[in-house]
Amino acid sequence: MVGSGGREHALVRALAATGWTVFAAPGNPGMAADADVRDIAMSDHAALVALATDEAVDLVVIGPEAPLVAGLADDLRAAGAAVLGPSGAAARLEGSKAFAKEVMLAAGVPTGRSRTVSTVDGGMAAVADFGLPVAVKADGLAAGKGVVIAQSEDEARVALVSMIDDAAFGAAGSTVVVEEGLTGPEVSLLAISDGTAVARFPAARDYKPIGEGNTGPNTGGMGSVSPVPGIPDPLADQLVDEVHRPVIAEMARRGIPFSGVLYAGLMMTPGGPKVLEFNVRFGDPETQALLPRVAGDLGDILLAAARGGLADQPVPVTPQASVAVVLAAANYPGDPRTGDAITGIDDALATGAEVFQAGTTRDGTGTLVTGGGRVLAVQALGDDVAQARERAYAAADLIHFDGEQMRRDIAAGMDA
Ligand code: AMP
Ligand code: GLY
Repeated sequence: MVGSGGREHALVRALAATGWTVFAAPGNPGMAADADVRDIAMSDHAALVALATDEAVDLVVIGPEAPLVAGLADDLRAAGAAVLGPSGAAARLEGSKAFAKEVMLAAGVPTGRSRTVSTVDGGMAAVADFGLPVAVKADGLAAGKGVVIAQSEDEARVALVSMIDDAAFGAAGSTVVVEEGLTGPEVSLLAISDGTAVARFPAARDYKPIGEGNTGPNTGGMGSVSPVPGIPDPLADQLVDEVHRPVIAEMARRGIPFSGVLYAGLMMTPGGPKVLEFNVRFGDPETQALLPRVAGDLGDILLAAARGGLADQPVPVTPQASVAVVLAAANYPGDPRTGDAITGIDDALATGAEVFQAGTTRDGTGTLVTGGGRVLAVQALGDDVAQARERAYAAADLIHFDGEQMRRDIAAGMDA
């Protein structure tokens, strides 16, 4: 397992629970109970290849997008490893929003009207054509911060100048995708593929803004839920037929087959579902809610996707609902305060909930302390969303650290 966040902790947990022996790099303190954690940087491809070869691992799962875009899967495959994750070329579906748009257009996948520009004037011409509000998106990876929804021409111009002229995101923003403003509820639909077959998860939703009622600046995600009312399984199947399958077929046609997890961020607009973005990996924190629903051996499915021969059917899941609530550090999503002692994790686990660590570390005395923005996620199952959220919050309330931030409205009001 390559990665160090809550998504990767959830993957480690699911694999260990079904009897897999797991190595994690660079890992986090929470994974130590379930995995042999190795302190190897994700950018150190040679050391990761050596670990995979020396330990003769059956499968390498790459969690985050940056190493995928940097070609880690290619380097591992060249050394003979089976890898869950796309090649660097196929990871461009996330690494370049302009490329993703081009593939969607070629594949006939529904998405907002857009134009790819590399000058402020070109961008403003697109803004004039599309009207307001309008989305201004840095082409490349920007750690979730490269999208501005502009309500006025001034805001659009400020965003374009900052990305193109001031290089706020470096090379990632020298090309910008300007997209018509869309409205509607959002849904995350994740599917695993071996390049041909598609195995979707049930629909999930994440909560990006820091504040209750979806107010304030965006974060990496403050909580998640699955299922999503309004996106029952037959609709999820239809969305996979309209989005994931044509994209995977188009990638194969181009000679850059996509294998790994294809995550479609969709908006259910009055004009039908539209793709906002693709990610080429599991979502964080959607994964923390989704994986505890998986029935059976997740590792077998991931291995089949990596080797080829994946069964073309949805990932089997329990009918139970799942909710994950994130506890974030003081000052997040600004520069988070670190070093605050964390208590109560064992009490939370004793309720039957899961606690997936992300921004945690051990101080000089071995005490578990905060070490990042999103510190951990507390997840619980229930017979319905209401029960799952009640259990998740009951467990989360047993965990404490100074400056803790937690949204109280994750998965609230979802039961129809
Ligand atoms: P993205 O990284 O493209 O998913 O964008 C991040 C967030 O910006 C999405 O989750 C949406 O909430 C919002 N967003 C993206 N594109 C649009 C759009 N065309 N219209 C309105 N909101 C959008
Ligand atoms: N939850 C959003 C993401 O993983 O990108």
